Amino acid sequence: MEQPLKLSVKDLSVTYVGRDGEKTEAVRDVSFDVADKPDCGEIIVFLGPSGCGKSTILKSIAGLTPPTEGEILVDDKPVTEVGRDRGMVFQTYTSFAWLTVRKNVEYGLKLQGIEKEKRKELSNKILEEVGLADFAERYPKDLSGGMKQRVAIARTLVNNPRIVLMDEPFGALDPQTRWGMQSLLLQISKIENNTIVFVTHDVSEAVYLADTCYVLSKRPAQILEKVDVPPFPVKDITLKSTAEFRAIENQLLQMLYNKS
Ligand SMILES: Nc1ncnc2c1ncn2[C@@H]1O[C@H](COP(=O)(O)OP(=O)(O)O)[C@@H](O)[C@H]1O
Ligand SMILES: [Mg+2]
Repeated sequence: MEQPLKLSVKDLSVTYVGRDGEKTEAVRDVSFDVADKPDCGEIIVFLGPSGCGKSTILKSIAGLTPPTEGEILVDDKPVTEVGRDRGMVFQTYTSFAWLTVRKNVEYGLKLQGIEKEKRKELSNKILEEVGLADFAERYPKDLSGGMKQRVAIARTLVNNPRIVLMDEPFGALDPQTRWGMQSLLLQISKIENNTIVFVTHDVSEAVYLADTCYVLSKRPAQILEKVDVPPFPVKDITLKSTAEFRAIENQLLQMLYNKS
């Protein structure tokens, strides 16, 4: 029997038309499938140069930007609008300044009408996972950049979406915090078993996070290659300086710069 698909993007093309009628072709003929593997977290990374159309691909999957051509299916149903089955984390911090960390995380649950005790149970679990248990009653302004992004991740994950869309979520962080967040994301994806579609222009980040990496051309984004990143036995701070890791980084760099 054919494996069911969680996400299927078929011949996605997006052309923006500006107010003056000027056209910008952002995405051309992008097709890929993500199988539904219950109880197995998976990270799919789109690696491409700045301005190539990465955010546009994610926004189409999110239901924010309609395809000009092609189709997107989540669990065999066409995407026509935003939905709770997909959650998005952006590069810029998107928490509500007037709400505590806990209330930010519980916001979506409250909208769904989930009662207080259950909300608290769910937010406690996720705040623990992202390492913010001790900051639940603080406000976003009291947090560092990395911690603010953890709030954003927690806010998305607490709704238990089928697919998590992450748009360069660590791009604004300093290198050390960034590395810590990448490790945290790997840990979380093992616990939560989500499908994460992650876009970045950072080659090292792509190799570190990806199970599967799609390398994109410069604008309009087209898929140049699909690379299955081998599972590294240990993903700790030493990995990035190993020959095996560097070899894959080099392979991706060649693809990016030779063809795009
Ligand atoms: N709403 C929009 N209207 C017109 N052009 C846009 C819009 N959003 C993005 N673009 C253009 O589409 C191209 C791809 O943008 P984007 O998907 O944001 O790329 P990336 O995320 O890879 O940097 C860019 O040239 C950008 O200027
Ligand atoms: Mg972008």
